[in-house]
Amino acid sequence: MLEGRRIALGVCGSVAAYKAADLVSKLQQAGALVDVILTERAAEFVRPLTFASLSHRPVYADLWEPTGEAAARHIELGQAAEALIIAPATANTIARLAHGMADDLLTNVALVTSAPLLIAPAMEGHMYTHPATQANLRTLEARGAIIIPPEVGHLASGEVGVGRFPETATLLAHIRRALARTGDLVGRRVVVTAGGTREPIDPVRYVGNHSSGLMGFALAEEARDRGAEVTLIVGAASAPIPFGMTVIHVGSALEMRDAVLKAIAGADALVMAAAVADYRVEHPADHKIKKGSREENADGTLTLHLIPNPDILKEVAASPAAPGLIRVGFAAETHDLAANATGKLHKKKLDMLVANDVTKSGSGFGVETNEVAIYHADGRIEQLALLPKTEVAAAIWDRVAPLLRTR
Ligand code: CTP
Repeated sequence: MLEGRRIALGVCGSVAAYKAADLVSKLQQAGALVDVILTERAAEFVRPLTFASLSHRPVYADLWEPTGEAAARHIELGQAAEALIIAPATANTIARLAHGMADDLLTNVALVTSAPLLIAPAMEGHMYTHPATQANLRTLEARGAIIIPPEVGHLASGEVGVGRFPETATLLAHIRRALARTGDLVGRRVVVTAGGTREPIDPVRYVGNHSSGLMGFALAEEARDRGAEVTLIVGAASAPIPFGMTVIHVGSALEMRDAVLKAIAGADALVMAAAVADYRVEHPADHKIKKGSREENADGTLTLHLIPNPDILKEVAASPAAPGLIRVGFAAETHDLAANATGKLHKKKLDMLVANDVTKSGSGFGVETNEVAIYHADGRIEQLALLPKTEVAAAIWDRVAPLLRTR
């Protein structure tokens, strides 16, 4: 989604300015056209050439260049920008922005542009928490700016506190969300489940599975980037939790069922990418099971009695809470893929079932790629190539979006 998008990046004179270089690099790799605008102080921390080398584009530092062309540069940059992100933003520039000052190129561009303005403050903790800085940030926020909160950690001053520049991934997620205002899922509410459930045995042990959450997270992020309002219901997952959506953490299948049934009210689509345990321990112990305890059998073995969990998708299909809800299921199979997939599509009354053979290399748990076939309710079957999970996610929403328009 960043391909060909014009992003203006303002960099201020903070020690974190060098970290903005990584943001430029990642944006450029994703295909964005990044116009870097340095404040005078920023150019003392990092040389313009660093940014120019990474963005493959001119870098702007001075409003008052002596050529006629430059006189209108702030207008051109401001109008072309699809998002203006100021990262790192210093207390001084935040104050200048809050008061509408226009004493350098960056503040001029900020006044010209009608694109979303994102501000990532990074400074010493006391400067950040000072009422003046906070009041300026609230002023900007009230005008529609998106404030990306700094993180807590080691600061350049040697202290530990709030004011650290966020990770590049966090900044990228904010930019993607700001750009998502024109996507094909704008105005849609979608629910995505991800990760595996954990069925308790006792307070310290559980029955779980290998789900990493990667596929579900890719689906949730793609929907967010297309403009949807996303509720992500996540069980146990090893991948980092995405940002820019409502995240509900659950443990067991029963908890996931309750969360899903609640979240689908008023939703347009549900994609169940979670690996839900089919069985749970009938009577989890309320204390840690010890060797030699009464739970043990006479021969020293331990028996867990497992009972079936409710089928969440089946319950959703029967629920009156979300009429017209598009329902997408997943099936990870080791054998008889086509027969199992078709069976599940009908049994769970789905619009689409995304099936993969987890025994194939490059597919399944913990890997970044997936090779899936999409089974449609009307009988069509589409086999997709081995793709990154992000592209599988895009392919799924490509098929859900037209269905949404029919309901
Ligand atoms: N699913 C669900 N509720 C369950 C189990 C699974 O909603 N209790 C969902 C999964 O999230 C997935 C789809 O149903 O989208 C298929 O899951 P899978 O475990 O493959 O299906 P099962 O019906 O449990 O079949 P199997 O006998 O192969 O385990």
